[in-house]
Amino acid sequence: MTPTMTREAALELLCKYNKEPFHLLHALTVEGVMRWFAQDQGYGAEADFWAMAGLLHDIDFELWPQEHCRKAPELLRAGGADEALIHAVCSHGYGLCSDVAPEHPMEKILFACDELTGLIGAAARMRPSKSVQDMEVSSLKKKFKDKKFAAGCSRDVIRQGAERLGWTLEELMEKTILAMRSCEEAVAGETEALCHG
Ligand SMILES: [Fe+2]
Repeated sequence: MTPTMTREAALELLCKYNKEPFHLLHALTVEGVMRWFAQDQGYGAEADFWAMAGLLHDIDFELWPQEHCRKAPELLRAGGADEALIHAVCSHGYGLCSDVAPEHPMEKILFACDELTGLIGAAARMRPSKSVQDMEVSSLKKKFKDKKFAAGCSRDVIRQGAERLGWTLEELMEKTILAMRSCEEAVAGETEALCHG
């Protein structure tokens, strides 16, 4: 599976509907994380497709939060995205705002790591380094258990995501930390450029 859009067109589409730095940071983070997972899971040839699903998964959230995952197909179709990408985007909200179940391994990973990248990002900002580079799973697990910390990141969704993959929570955390380490610097630079460039 290769994307029908260029990365440049996808980024332009993202920026058409997303202006908040936090949302751009999240989109670019999940893009980088999905690219890492494609390699890790033996789907290196589809890495661009996995990454694009990550980049565009929340495309409708900033402007249509009440229609999250329901407005997205229209925006993506108009932008030139293919149906497989639209299916993946819709499936990340399964059980919350969508009835499209994650089926493909890529969709299961997107579902599992979306909320978790939010939790990891919040935990990283609390560290002296402000980075995931020196973050260990043990400290992330403490943040996961502390329900008051980053309360908006649903622990249930993260747990459910790991279950769907047949992974333990620790495995999912370990891989997602590695994935975020791989793209942290590039994502920070590109977010900065988009917001102030
Ligand atoms: Fe998201």
